Amino acid sequence: MNILNPILIILICFHFLFNPHQTQTLAQSSTETCLDTICHTNQPLIRFPFYIETKQPNNTCGYPGFKLLCNNKTEKNQTLVNLPYMEELNIQKINYATQELFVNDPNNCLAKRLLSLNLSASPFHAVYYQQFTFFNCSVHFKYLTSLYKPILCLSDSSKYNVFATPSRTVVLHLSSVCDMVDTVNVPVQSPFYDHVLSSELNDDLRLSWNSPPCGRCESHGGRCGFQDNSTFEIACYNVPPTQGISHGASYAIAICFGVPTLLCFISLLSWICSKFRFGIHGWTLARETVEDFESLIDPQHDTNILGLDKPTIESYPKIVIGDDGIYLPRPNDKTCSICLSEYMPKETVKTMPDCEHCFHAQCIDEWLPLNASCPICRTSPPWLPSQNLAQS
Ligand SMILES: *[C@@H]1O[C@H](CO)[C@@H](O)[C@H](O)[C@H]1NC(C)=O
Ligand SMILES: *[C@@H]1O[C@H](CO)[C@@H](O)[C@H](O)[C@H]1NC(C)=O
Ligand SMILES: *[C@@H]1O[C@H](CO)[C@@H](O)[C@H](O)[C@H]1NC(C)=O
Ligand SMILES: *[C@@H]1O[C@H](CO)[C@@H](O)[C@H](O)[C@H]1NC(C)=O
Ligand SMILES: *[C@@H]1O[C@H](CO)[C@@H](O)[C@H](O)[C@H]1NC(C)=O
Ligand SMILES: *[C@@H]1O[C@H](CO)[C@@H](O)[C@H](O)[C@H]1NC(C)=O
Repeated sequence: MNILNPILIILICFHFLFNPHQTQTLAQSSTETCLDTICHTNQPLIRFPFYIETKQPNNTCGYPGFKLLCNNKTEKNQTLVNLPYMEELNIQKINYATQELFVNDPNNCLAKRLLSLNLSASPFHAVYYQQFTFFNCSVHFKYLTSLYKPILCLSDSSKYNVFATPSRTVVLHLSSVCDMVDTVNVPVQSPFYDHVLSSELNDDLRLSWNSPPCGRCESHGGRCGFQDNSTFEIACYNVPPTQGISHGASYAIAICFGVPTLLCFISLLSWICSKFRFGIHGWTLARETVEDFESLIDPQHDTNILGLDKPTIESYPKIVIGDDGIYLPRPNDKTCSICLSEYMPKETVKTMPDCEHCFHAQCIDEWLPLNASCPICRTSPPWLPSQNLAQS
């Protein structure tokens, strides 16, 4: 029972640790064709869940609703996202780890687009909304432009100015002199404060998406993709093993190492307990147990027997390497396998008498008092009782 339990646990662990890998490598082939792509240099890198229809097969490389276009009709080389019920928006930046994108109007009049923005049918939503009220004011009220910033692309400098404000005070002021156009929710980058009196509304809109949930995978350095080409289920691929271990794997590792350690500890404890005799007057320690226990906790205990004494070490043949090369019993020995450095002229090398392996004298002199055998081939001097001891 005691032996079977750890084996069972190890088998279960292997199942947990290596099964996900198998499914990953199998699925990898279907997403291998989906390489990162780009519309033009300096444009955002495009990968799952986004896809460029003309460059990537739409059924495997991207998620529905994440279709992009490259605008090379104009000289602007923009990356455009096609949203339902409206014209395209220009993607400035995609943050795959936080699942956010920053968009603007390809024709540089974002305020105009905001008046008809409707994200309800798209996979995207705002991170922060701020309510703005638009006013259309006659240029007769000249002083307004010294108080508030007009939206130039919506205004006609000879007839009217359009203002947008988040401030209730400004709304009260402007409603008395201008026509109110509309009140819209704007996906701002961070919450504004009431002291903002007016805005030209040309900062990129900050949008986010919830599905597909690839942020966790991306933030661990992985790449998201479909599990296969028949469902919309996603999987995480190519997570660098050093950077992040999945939750499942860390649980598996915790179980794999934690449970056997616990079992070992319990076995050791019960072994120690079985060696103690519980007398009527308390604990008494059996004599042989003390010796067993000392050799168990003190491995140095035996090394005095295994090491060589000083006169024997001194008796081993020494060679001083000459200026013009190495003349060692084994001509291919060019480095000391204890310190791993090459033999240099004038260095003293010591040879093991039985196997003729060589080492720096100072290296082997430190080794032999602790261990009588050759560090390379493990042969010991034949007179040593420790050799028989080791073989038994
Ligand atoms: C891509 O989608 C379009 C419709 O959106 C469809 O007509 C076309 O067949 C699809 N292509 C592939 C390879 O599935
Ligand atoms: C136009 O866009 C396509 C992608 O839709 C791209 O492959 C192509 O290189 C672009 N053409 C130019 C001239 O940039
Ligand atoms: C867009 O790409 C074309 C062709 O590569 C290039 O001549 C032009 O300068 C680019 N425009 C911008 C705004 O980068
Ligand atoms: C957005 O469009 C949908 C579908 O046309 C419509 O039902 C919804 O009322 C619109 N929302 C706004 C705020 O206009
Ligand atoms: C502002 O009012 C003028 C007429 O005074 C009109 O022509 C213009 O379209 C209006 N602009 C907006 C954005 O409502
Ligand atoms: C889906 O994958 C299978 C094999 O993996 C392939 O035979 C099939 O043609 C693929 N379907 C599409 C629509 O690409």
